[in-house]
Amino acid sequence: MVKLVIDGREIEAQEGSNLLRTCLENDIYIPNLCWLGEMEKPSASCRLCFVEVEGIPQPTTSCSMKVWDGMKVRTDTEWVRRLQRSAFRLLLSAHRIECRTCPSNKKCDLQKIARFLKTPLKPKRLESLARKDQETEKHPFLEYVPDRCVLCGKCVFVCLSRHEVPMMAFANRGFSTMIRFSHDPVSGSPPCDQCLACVEICPVSAILVKETFMIAASPT
Ligand code: SF4
Ligand code: SF4
Ligand code: FES
Repeated sequence: MVKLVIDGREIEAQEGSNLLRTCLENDIYIPNLCWLGEMEKPSASCRLCFVEVEGIPQPTTSCSMKVWDGMKVRTDTEWVRRLQRSAFRLLLSAHRIECRTCPSNKKCDLQKIARFLKTPLKPKRLESLARKDQETEKHPFLEYVPDRCVLCGKCVFVCLSRHEVPMMAFANRGFSTMIRFSHDPVSGSPPCDQCLACVEICPVSAILVKETFMIAASPT
């Protein structure tokens, strides 16, 4: 075990544990969207989980950092909050806010983070850059909503960790980045109806089971 100090509180943790996990397990909330506990190498792509660590000149993402003995961490400085609010604003610029009709309403990470950072979900003067999916070939059971997707990558991670041949991946670059489904090259039909891990993990309901499929699959 090692001892570290987070926001003035002395905390014990397993040597080498993940810093974000250590904070969350000790009821110290740090906004995060792209991290899952089982990730060995987190992508640190959402840029929300910044903290300040004594001895490191700039705030750093806690999901990509391990704890050490004597570490001193601050999760709530002005610098940290400024960076988190900018990252969150950037993320919202590509996210269509329609909470009332969204399946994630009231259990949504974005709503939670907005409350925590005391920042609006619809910031004034925020240019909207909603992505449009130009793909013609669609998935037989699943629907992808590109202008809701925050590119957290959790769906890609769970798909890759559960299937030898992953059924989805990131496609394109920069602002055009989005999720693309692929079909099983052997059977030609994706095993997604037996899995749905991506639907369950998506924090913003950007992957959904198609209504037509739910009706077809329901017992008569
Ligand atoms: S994902 Fe969250 S913030 Fe976005 S529309 Fe749905 S409930 Fe609202
Ligand atoms: S579809 Fe959902 S889980 Fe996948 S990258 Fe987009 S927001 Fe994340
Ligand atoms: S949770 Fe750390 S960068 Fe996304």
